[in-house]
Order: sequence, then structure tokens, then C-alpha cells
Amino acid sequence: MRTSSFLSGALLLLGGAITGSHAQGECLDKSAVVHTGTPAGKEIKYANLTFYVAEPDPRNPRTKARAGAAVLYLSDVFGLGIVENKLLADSFARAGYLTIVPDLFDGSPAPGDISVPGFNTTEFLARHNPTTIDPKIASSIRYLRRNRRISRIGAPGYCFGGRYTFRFAGPSGVASVQNGRDAYIDATYAAHPSLLSAEEILAIGAPASIAAAATDPLFDDDARVAAEKTLKQSTQPYRVTVYSGTDHGFAVRANLADPEQKEGKEEAFLQAVAWFDRWLLA
Ligand SMILES: *[C@@H]1O[C@H](CO)[C@@H](O)[C@H](O)[C@H]1NC(C)=O
Ligand SMILES: *[C@@H]1O[C@H](CO)[C@@H](O)[C@H](O)[C@H]1NC(C)=O
Repeated sequence: MRTSSFLSGALLLLGGAITGSHAQGECLDKSAVVHTGTPAGKEIKYANLTFYVAEPDPRNPRTKARAGAAVLYLSDVFGLGIVENKLLADSFARAGYLTIVPDLFDGSPAPGDISVPGFNTTEFLARHNPTTIDPKIASSIRYLRRNRRISRIGAPGYCFGGRYTFRFAGPSGVASVQNGRDAYIDATYAAHPSLLSAEEILAIGAPASIAAAATDPLFDDDARVAAEKTLKQSTQPYRVTVYSGTDHGFAVRANLADPEQKEGKEEAFLQAVAWFDRWLLA
């Protein structure tokens, strides 16, 4: 026993010395989340859509076990305009998943600071509604299933995107039923979702996991508790985790100078990966 605990201690030290080495092994840890830097993926066109694509490294031992599964990353209103979304997609690829981020806003996402003069949030949200967004997500799912031969899809949704991962959750999802036979996802994860309705939660036909901020005017305590009650009424496995010291948006853009927020972002990412690993892998 002494020898093995000494060994694991030594391995931990070794892992700590080689930054990111854990992310390359079977075991994933917080080092998989890279907060700053240059995105490793690329943008491609498919039909009318632009995707940011993060390919998993074939040499990563995690990748082979996740062949046939993919992550469809449904972003916040900042979309491909902020580096954090691309870097988080890269992190899912580092976890072994082919990951795509569809540009839901036709090249014009919300500005990184929505308080800039001239930006009208009400108008933006009215223009980007389920009528315009659902077909883009259905098309993204078709790309994965038909062009990339993916059979199992997990969709992490952040803020704006959180609602849509519920809309497409399983064949019975509110949007799935309107968009054709294979237009659904197999596992749902939403971080600080906004505009999510009880009807959308009740219709899910796939396991759902929620990461909530402790302070969030768009998904406050009442909304979260209501969502928990509705999830309980659904027939699906579910999980809800609240991260202390965090605000709306933390799973994408945390204040990295605040250790609790940084850790919250990293743990919320690991929550998503654990959920997908549980429900997407055979
Ligand atoms: C492409 O966009 C046009 C115009 O917005 C639309 O009519 C058409 O259905 C779209 N095609 C696909 C494949 O989504
Ligand atoms: C923002 O857009 C809404 C809806 O189009 C409109 O009613 C409102 O007047 C706009 N606000 C500003 C400040 O332009």
C-alpha cells in the first residue's frame, strides 16, 4: 500500500510538471481546459453554414474510444466572435471528441461587450429565434451524421445555446420532431441557459445535465429550481450542479483572476465531458 501511494504521488508530481500531460492520457483533468491562446481548429463551409471544427488528435488514447461520437457545440450570442468559444471547442477535442461549432449568427454575432452603443439585444434576440436557429442546428446534425458518419452526438449549449440543446434532445425534443428523422442529439448539457421553457424541458428524449451559476439573472434560483422540478417529471436521467462564486457566462468567460471562477469553468467543462462519456460511449 505504501509503495503504491508513493508511486501515485510521484506520478501526480510528474503530471504536474508536464503541463497538459493528463489531458493526453485516458484520464482527463482540468489541464484540458486552455483559457487563452490561439485556437487550433479551422473554419469550414457546409451548405450555408460556417463551422469551426476542432479535430481530436488521433494519437491521443482518448480519441479512438470516441470514434463515432461527436460534440456539437451550441454557443452563446458571441459565437465565433470570441476566442473563448473556439478554445473550449478545442478542449472538447482534447478530451477525444470531434467537435464542431456552427456559426448560428451568419457572421454577425453579438459584440463581445453587448453594452456597446448601437447594439440592440432585444432586436438581436428577436432576429435569432427558433425559426432561424433550429434549421442551422438540424443541418449541423445532418453534417455530423451523414458526412462524418457520427452516430452519437452530445451537445453542450452555453447561455443562448443552452435552450437549443434541450430543443434537440432526443427524437422527442421540441425541435427534433419538426426537423426530420435523425435531427436530434443523444446527450444534453447546458451551462447557464437562458430563455429555456418548461415545455422544452418536458419534451426531452435524452439525458440532460445543467451547470448553473450561483448568481445569474437569466437563470436565477427560482428558474433553476423550476427546471429541476420539470426535469424530475421528464423520464430522462438528469443532473443539476451549481457553482459557487460564479456569474452568468462563467463556463465560457470566467474571470481568470478569481480562483473560484476559474475552477468553476474548469469543473463545468469536466461535468460536460463526464456526461458525454457516460451517455455517448457504448
Ligand atoms: C440557404 O439559405 C437560403 C437563404 O437564406 C435558404 O433559402 C436555403 O434553404 C438555405 N439552404 C440550406 C441548405 O440550408
Ligand atoms: C431595440 O429593438 C426593439 C425591437 O426591434 C425596439 O422596439 C427598440 O426601440 C430598440 N431600442 C433601441 C434603443 O433602439
